[in-house]
Amino acid sequence: MAQEVRGVIAPGKDEPVRIETVVVPDPGPGEAVVQVQACGVCHTDLHYKQGGINDEFPFLLGHEAAGVVEAVGPGVTDVEPGDFVILNWRAVCGKCRACLRGRPWYCFDTHNAQQRMTLASTGQELSPALGIGAFAEKTLVAAGQCTKVDPRVAPQVAGLLGCGVMAGIGAAINTGNVGRGDSVAVIGCGGVGDAAIAGSQLAGAATIIAVDIDDRKLETARSMGATHTVNSRENDPVEAIRELTGGFGADVVIEAVGRPETYKQAFYARDLAGTVVLVGVPTPEMKLELPLLDVFGRGGSLKSSWYGDCLPSRDFPMLIDLHLQGRLDLGAFVTETIGLDEVEKAFERMHHGDVLRSVVVL
Ligand code: APR
Ligand code: ZN
Ligand code: ZN
Repeated sequence: MAQEVRGVIAPGKDEPVRIETVVVPDPGPGEAVVQVQACGVCHTDLHYKQGGINDEFPFLLGHEAAGVVEAVGPGVTDVEPGDFVILNWRAVCGKCRACLRGRPWYCFDTHNAQQRMTLASTGQELSPALGIGAFAEKTLVAAGQCTKVDPRVAPQVAGLLGCGVMAGIGAAINTGNVGRGDSVAVIGCGGVGDAAIAGSQLAGAATIIAVDIDDRKLETARSMGATHTVNSRENDPVEAIRELTGGFGADVVIEAVGRPETYKQAFYARDLAGTVVLVGVPTPEMKLELPLLDVFGRGGSLKSSWYGDCLPSRDFPMLIDLHLQGRLDLGAFVTETIGLDEVEKAFERMHHGDVLRSVVVL
């Protein structure tokens, strides 16, 4: 029997979000219904509301979530009712050319639930943010979007791995291959950059330089594991990073802003043959100009990090275990917990840079 639950809807471009009754169908083949316990407020949710992703309103927002599987449809074998799971927005297919070559974190054919959740009042189909839609008491997803982790972790902490925190940690440990003794610089210290700092520390980086234009962010970055900080409004970040790395530049520079000027800083702040990782997401009109001779002459690799190049089934349980062992403080990313009716306010605080993460707890 389809169920009715409360969910946060973005009804139209730039309109305030509101709570509505959402109809959640029973899970069909390959699907699962998850009782959401916590869901972080991410920039991408705000971009949906602003019409910046697409115009398929109304959206059911929320996608950094953890909860308990309530029911599964036919053919689902990896999870079962009662499992504590983190939701991911890249359920891998196992069949595309990336999956078949043993690189499923690049899967080119990820999927979501087939059925749609609807608005109880009008019967209108909802577009769930990133195929999840978890600012709701329950949500319908593809079973592959559920990854079972140790249930001893607090849901408001676990859910964050579903998006921004995984993107940042993965940018360092998966894409950047940060290793013991490396020097790392992270440009932009919001939730994603801070996670890249925590990931670099976890990987054994010896020097971790945090760069931001906001001193408050640099202070937090230090508590996340940065060994040095640079305010790039006051100092040239390329010179500062070189100075802090024996005059050479960092082995790995992670760009977590998503702008051409910060990408250029990352490009020139890295040592010869070093690695640049772009995890910040640019907008369509942005362009990059670099002397091609420098691209050649400086060598190394220029990489992008999609969702931290994570493989949820490999990375989520491992990172939760490290957290439970006290080796990765995921709790530090939770600035505040809020109710379902406070998402609009949380967007405002996020916009002003006041929070790393507000997390809705249900
Ligand atoms: N130089 C350095 N830091 C900057 C600059 C700049 N020119 N402009 C902004 N910043 C800093 C901000 O002060 C802030 O601390 O970058 C940080 C961005 O953090 P958030 O806005 O909290 O964003 P976050 O959630 O960390 O995401 C960062 O990754 O996933 C993408 O879409 C996301 O592009 C975004 C990026
Ligand atoms: Zn695939
Ligand atoms: Zn997100």
